[in-house]
Amino acid sequence: ADLKIYRASTTAPVNIAVIKYWGKRDPALNLPTNSSLSVTLSQSDLRTHTTASCSPAFDHPDTLLLNNAPQSLSTPRSLACLRSLRALRSGLEDADPSLPKLSTLPLRLASANNFPTAAGLASSAAGFAALVRAIADLYALRQSPTELSLIARQGSGSACRSLLGGYVAWDHGTRADGLDSRARLVAPKAHWPDMRALILVVSAAKKGVSSTAGMQTTVQTSSLFQTRAKEVVPKRMAEMEHAILSKDFETFAKVTMRESNSFHATCLDTDPPIFYLNDVSRAAIKAVEETNDKAGRTIAAYTFDAGPNAVIYYQKADEDAVLKTFLPILRQKEGWGETDTKIDDPGPA
Ligand code: PMV
Repeated sequence: ADLKIYRASTTAPVNIAVIKYWGKRDPALNLPTNSSLSVTLSQSDLRTHTTASCSPAFDHPDTLLLNNAPQSLSTPRSLACLRSLRALRSGLEDADPSLPKLSTLPLRLASANNFPTAAGLASSAAGFAALVRAIADLYALRQSPTELSLIARQGSGSACRSLLGGYVAWDHGTRADGLDSRARLVAPKAHWPDMRALILVVSAAKKGVSSTAGMQTTVQTSSLFQTRAKEVVPKRMAEMEHAILSKDFETFAKVTMRESNSFHATCLDTDPPIFYLNDVSRAAIKAVEETNDKAGRTIAAYTFDAGPNAVIYYQKADEDAVLKTFLPILRQKEGWGETDTKIDDPGPA
């Protein structure tokens, strides 16, 4: 018997949204109420590494290890990703009978994050993007990153954006089947290579309310959410794309900060309220404001996802000014404990 092991490995970076995805119009397909936009960080820093293997020597069912701990692959999200990838492979096998029948073999997936999992550092984004990419490579699929983003989206919404590098939009789409709800390149990393992201790990603990549960309650109970999705975000998407295309950091920063605050306001407006920010997060906001005041212009922008960790965007030319002012101000603030700063260089996927 053929006991060969077929294997492919890949990495996918984290992406940090500057226009936030929060709210699903279709929870089963992970279709969002509003479009979103993010910066994909570099492969060299926050990322998931995934190896996908399949072999007639493996037993069913498929398995996944994350940082060496077994994870369920029987969630509807994971099953949807595996089903879509197998269907594409099966199409190739039907067209070319000389190809090994990998689509029917059990999968062994092994992933490792080099950063805290589920602490609001977009671990699910990198995780599902790496899973989809690794299996697509294993199966020698010819789909483009944008086409693969449709599959990753079903695993975790924000994952669709991690299939592309640089500045990436996720268009909400209008189709009921979700085929137009996918990632789109706004600009490659090289268009604005001087963008930097400083990540302040305020807490590496798991977040209290998962994004899926939080979004559902927000959609059901927040009145702010309706205005945000219908009026606020569409306007900001246009402003943000324009700011990126024209490398206008002031506008990029202003929209980023107001967006983060708008998202966290809808969380507070949720019943029961959701608190992702803590005192250290608020100290980071104040420190960014003081940094910008001292500089006399906007040189830094904060944003927070579903957790207390701050991501600070700035440009390379302002690195000294940001690090010299922001970090000492932040250290003086009460409640500032353990710091783990990562300076990252957003790069291509
Ligand atoms: O992809 P999810 O289900 O983990 O949701 C992510 C939501 C935010 O990170 C808060 C915003 C975003 O657009 O990434």
